[in-house]
Amino acid sequence: MEAFRKQVREAFPLLQRQVHGKPLAYFDNAATTQKPQAVLDAVDNYYRQTNSNVHRGVHALSQEATEAYEQARKTVQNFLHAAHSHEIIFTRGTTEAVNLVAQGFGKSVFQEGDEIICSVMEHHSNIVPWQLAGADKKLRIRVIPVNERGEADMESYASLFNEKTKLVAITQASNVLGSITPLKEIIRIAHSHSVPVLADGAQGVKCCLTDVQELDCDFYCFSGHKIYAPMGIGVLYGKEKWLEKLPPYQGGGDMIQHVGFDKTTFNSLPFKFEAGTPNVAGAIGLQAALQWVENIGQEKLIRAEEELTAYATKQLQQLPGLRIWGTSARKAAVISFTLGHHHPTDVGTLIDFMGIAVRTGHHCCQPLMDVLGIPGTVRASFAAYNTQEETDRMLSALQTAQQMLG
Ligand code: ALA
Repeated sequence: MEAFRKQVREAFPLLQRQVHGKPLAYFDNAATTQKPQAVLDAVDNYYRQTNSNVHRGVHALSQEATEAYEQARKTVQNFLHAAHSHEIIFTRGTTEAVNLVAQGFGKSVFQEGDEIICSVMEHHSNIVPWQLAGADKKLRIRVIPVNERGEADMESYASLFNEKTKLVAITQASNVLGSITPLKEIIRIAHSHSVPVLADGAQGVKCCLTDVQELDCDFYCFSGHKIYAPMGIGVLYGKEKWLEKLPPYQGGGDMIQHVGFDKTTFNSLPFKFEAGTPNVAGAIGLQAALQWVENIGQEKLIRAEEELTAYATKQLQQLPGLRIWGTSARKAAVISFTLGHHHPTDVGTLIDFMGIAVRTGHHCCQPLMDVLGIPGTVRASFAAYNTQEETDRMLSALQTAQQMLG
């Protein structure tokens, strides 16, 4: 697998650079992944050869751009195994996808005193949109706790439903603890109460093989940039029946059928939710990324990450005073840790000078940090291009940091 990882690495130009005069070991993949040459070429080629607005022009370039954009939608459909391409809405990312559904539920589903269920591991982007959308209905968020390994407590989960429950909004994989949630079982239980489920796939999309029909998921959101695609493009998958039910999110061009000053009628799916000029280059970059993943084989890429995560876990456990937060049986390629009493920012800043890029802080999960009773962690998160040699360097950088911090 190490040879495979090194071969994958060759496809990523940025990984050749140095930082602070040291070779870069990039372990901030849960924040964003680097981009392979195939993605850079697809975006570059789009702007050199095709750039034009979509769904609007009779001229050749506009038609080519429209075809490429709609082809990208089909690639996403196949990647998620969605039943229809019109169930794929392009958004800016996971955050916008969650906000789109939250605003729709706020306007057309939530009633005074309704409830939704989230887990304590949720990213702020799967908490705050619900608070904003449900504020005037006094929406209550009920929270699934985690056990000492960081796994969702399924018994508590099952006990949170009542007649006011309108939605379960839950992560597929925690960006802090790495825990992969048992989505299929979570959805089965929610559906037994006739409650729909929104899955936040921001981290899970890279670490899990996702089949939205097999999961029977009602909504699934992900960001392209966390799976080797450009920033600024993401996806909301929604079951047709739900997307038909929800009102438009934003008003503007392309989302209308007919506009009058008295009354406007809206376009069909997916365009109803794509107001204004979309990120066509982003969609094409996302297509290139998903094709790159599929050409290599997502299962193989996942195995490469998992094996490296297991190796790095053993390495890090050698360090006195190091505590790993999140030891779920099914875990994404994420290791969050604290090092004795040292502040995560101090540790992260010191090892950055040694060429090691990690994220530090609360990782946009303040409610989880409050429950864990810590201000934050150091987080190393892996992609298929990371190597054992790099994790060895991280270990020795951490040893040095520990000595320096005393
Ligand atoms: N959600 C991203 C992270 O966990 C930014 O780092």
